[in-house]
Amino acid sequence: MTFKPANKIQDLQYFGEFGGVNPSISDSSTYTFLSAKKMLDTFEGEAPGCYLYSRYASPSTLYLGEALAAMEGTETANVAGSGMGAITTTIMHFCGAGDHIVSSRTIYGGTYAFLKNFAPRFNINTSFVDITKLDIVEAAITKNTKIIYCETISNPLLEVADIKGLAQLAKKHNIKLIVDNTFSPMMISPITLGADVVIHSLTKFINGTNDTMGGVVCGSQKLIDAMRSVIDGAAMLLGPSLDSIRAASILKNMRTLHIRIKQHSKNAQFLAEKFEALGLKTVYPGLTSHPSHELFKTMMNEEYGFGGMLTIDVGSLNNANSLMELMQHKNLGYLAVSLGFYKTLFSAPGTSTSSEIPEEEQAEMGLSDGLIRFSIGLDDDIERTYQMMHECMEELNILKPELEEVNSLLIHSH
Ligand SMILES: Cc1ncc(COP(=O)(O)O)c(C=O)c1O
Repeated sequence: MTFKPANKIQDLQYFGEFGGVNPSISDSSTYTFLSAKKMLDTFEGEAPGCYLYSRYASPSTLYLGEALAAMEGTETANVAGSGMGAITTTIMHFCGAGDHIVSSRTIYGGTYAFLKNFAPRFNINTSFVDITKLDIVEAAITKNTKIIYCETISNPLLEVADIKGLAQLAKKHNIKLIVDNTFSPMMISPITLGADVVIHSLTKFINGTNDTMGGVVCGSQKLIDAMRSVIDGAAMLLGPSLDSIRAASILKNMRTLHIRIKQHSKNAQFLAEKFEALGLKTVYPGLTSHPSHELFKTMMNEEYGFGGMLTIDVGSLNNANSLMELMQHKNLGYLAVSLGFYKTLFSAPGTSTSSEIPEEEQAEMGLSDGLIRFSIGLDDDIERTYQMMHECMEELNILKPELEEVNSLLIHSH
């Protein structure tokens, strides 16, 4: 039976304190107790339904966590103040001094920097591998390896991880598979494919309005309880908690996530096909030219399409910058990092979100200077958007330089 993430969210029904259709926002950082005994029980985790202090949990963060757990099909979830807050606490939960991680080499620059530059301070070391090659992943696993870490669709190269294959490897070696699903909420449900833990930056598609940061770790009750332990829990002690007011606003935006994802995907598919037809090197999992197109189809919850992210290569950083500036000037979107907004966002990853990755490694990964990453918006008339983007490209002469070269040679030879 196929997994239906939107139904899971649809079925959650809450009543506010005064019968409101939204749950009331808990506007407090600390909570009172009528008896001192109850306070002690709550501290020791033995008084369900009682709140203590909002770094631990508040009604609003628990509601949001419940919706995210429902969407990903996990027992529960713990929300955080940012995606990095969720990622770093999860890694620090699973790994200590002497432990080893096998990670995809194409991941968000911040996660890469954490694993490469920060975690070694705790003697946690990472092998970065081509995650699309299961034999290479397996060869990197050592007796100290605790986790395999990847993104379902990677940032920014849009490589697709074979979650089922990786989950089998993780089981075989008795380690955990942790998947960052930020680029593909609803489209792919990693838990149903065998992943142990799913992480999101809520800052992106899930919230969708680029007004707040947020993150989440979705997993078993046992995992989340351990991460929230007041004695030694990484989430509790490192403290990347989400504010209740922001938790409530993200929860409201989640109610339209299924509609937004379908529109992001529809628009991105349309533009990717058009850009490819123009002769631009275009990467989008929904194109048959994408090396993992067929794999993606075997993993996806079909109605949500292939996502809102695509890249094109316009040959040079100069071209990329001129095109992005012109598109912004024509109100087609914003020259900005991040993703999942209702307007299109574009950035050149080599000089922005992936600038933490050294230049030689960028080249090895295929992260070229002329690469533009698009997060396609919710435009109602995507054909019109395409025409305007096409005009920008023509104005800057960045289309098919080889053809133009041939043309100019022909002209000169006459
Ligand atoms: C795939 C992915 N994971 C995690 C993050 C980090 O999330 P945040 O910026 O909310 O800390 C990002 C941010 O760009 C991302 O793209």
